Amino acid sequence: MKESGNFEFDDVQGLLRFGYGKLADTCFMLLKIADASAARQWLSTAPVSSAIAIHPPPDTALQIAFSVQGLRALGIDESIIDGFSDEFVHGMTRNENCSRRLGDIGHNAPKYWKWGEGADVPHILLLLYARKGGLDAWKATVEGEYFSQAFQLLQYLPTSDMGRTDPFGFEDGISQPAIDWADRHDTDSHANDRYTNLLAAGEMVLGYPNEYGQYTARPLIDLQKDRFAVNLPDAKDDPARKDFGRNGTYLVLRQLEQNVPGFWQFLDKVSDSIPEKRERLAASMVGRERNGTPLIAEHIPGILPKDHGNHFTYDLDPKGNHCPVSAHVRRANPRTGDLPTAVTGTGAIALINRLVKILGFGQKPEEDLIASSRFHRLLRRGRSYGPVLAPGDAVKPDAPAAERGLQFICLVANIGRQFEFVQNAWIVNGKFGGLQEEPDPLLGNREPMINGNSTDHFNRPTSSGSMQKTCHLPQFTTVLGGGYFFMPGLRALKYISALPANGNGGSS
Ligand code: HEM
Repeated sequence: MKESGNFEFDDVQGLLRFGYGKLADTCFMLLKIADASAARQWLSTAPVSSAIAIHPPPDTALQIAFSVQGLRALGIDESIIDGFSDEFVHGMTRNENCSRRLGDIGHNAPKYWKWGEGADVPHILLLLYARKGGLDAWKATVEGEYFSQAFQLLQYLPTSDMGRTDPFGFEDGISQPAIDWADRHDTDSHANDRYTNLLAAGEMVLGYPNEYGQYTARPLIDLQKDRFAVNLPDAKDDPARKDFGRNGTYLVLRQLEQNVPGFWQFLDKVSDSIPEKRERLAASMVGRERNGTPLIAEHIPGILPKDHGNHFTYDLDPKGNHCPVSAHVRRANPRTGDLPTAVTGTGAIALINRLVKILGFGQKPEEDLIASSRFHRLLRRGRSYGPVLAPGDAVKPDAPAAERGLQFICLVANIGRQFEFVQNAWIVNGKFGGLQEEPDPLLGNREPMINGNSTDHFNRPTSSGSMQKTCHLPQFTTVLGGGYFFMPGLRALKYISALPANGNGGSS
């Protein structure tokens, strides 16, 4: 297969490289396989978009991902399934402990979900993208022959075009990791004392070295046992075997309902209905102003107030006087390097400090708790849903209630180390960066800690050193469904669609 530059973009689904932001009409379909043979037929001709850059960009795109149940229903052998990660194989709702760690308890519990649990686990996720007004025609083209015979529609996940704004009214999709497609970045620990936004491709794409310089476990196929695997890429770390995972990724999907009137009315109440106060509190919960400006922008030299980019860290704001430590964006990506700030730099003192830290002495609690960001990044590809409700209207007592929220999607090569870690250790966990009993203000489920202490507050230090405490936060977001999917490379997709009716049974 042809390589584009150094990377096999023609074997990669486009979502790994593009957000398809210009394709504002989207529809996400959760399918069950009704007839495996018709499903494979449909898959063999599905017009799936690759990651090759085309100019001008196409007007439509289609992406496909499978749950483990879907792979099994299509006849993928258990020896291949065994090569996937436990998180993918056993799923997002695999046991109570996992649900607790992901914050899926109380109103978020899987038993209340609209999909993703028990009989409502989807087999296939289809992501359709089109330019405004083009979705119906694209959907008809995509469905084509075999579709109605092959699949049952489990859920049609709504999305709506809110521009770059999320339902609460904040600009979203600003910060993303940059992927080192050209493989120039040094993953050695000494090269990464400080935060960097550039990530090894293997953090997002299977079959390439990750930030540890290693290959993430994935299904490798022995050609002796499976002659159908012949057109799959070779495994770079095990050339005698074929790589079913290479150029694929895991896709995490969570349907998160947002109570927009509830959010703004609560903030209005605790801000004595003073609009500026309300805005400041909302921005400090998110960690950016509504137009996307980072909260530390005006305080830290070198950051342009309107620079929406990623060119900042929290190093000069260790106590969160400008951007609270608990703010959503600071928790979701603390922008930490491999060593705490005070230890980076050059010279004899820095060297001694570094040795002291490596040996584990003199660690402050907040330094212990925040791991290096480069091992826990997410490539976010979600879309909002529901009707737009501007904050100024949402504060009114008669604000129209409606289903609104985020179809949260992220792509990762390691579900446990990336999505589950961020969701658990940084978002849901009350202990973060020296904070106690204070989860993410936007996403917290407000369930008490195991010791019975409440988690429904948000602390905002002021520059004078005092703490502004907001108490009795209601739950602003609720999980309505979720699942883990494998988004294969295009050659692996061909392999799936070419499986014989009795499973892969391809022994020669
Ligand atoms: C309804 C739920 C959510 C809302 C309203 C929301 C909102 C936002 C907003 C407004 C931003 C700032 C824009 C940007 O930096 O791109 C952001 C950033 C981010 N969010 Fe969320 N988010 C939600 C759920 C989640 C979840 C579930 C996760 C992960 C498990 C997550 C991870 C992130 C990350 C990694 C960033 C970028 C932080 C950075 O690099 O600075 N978000 N989110």
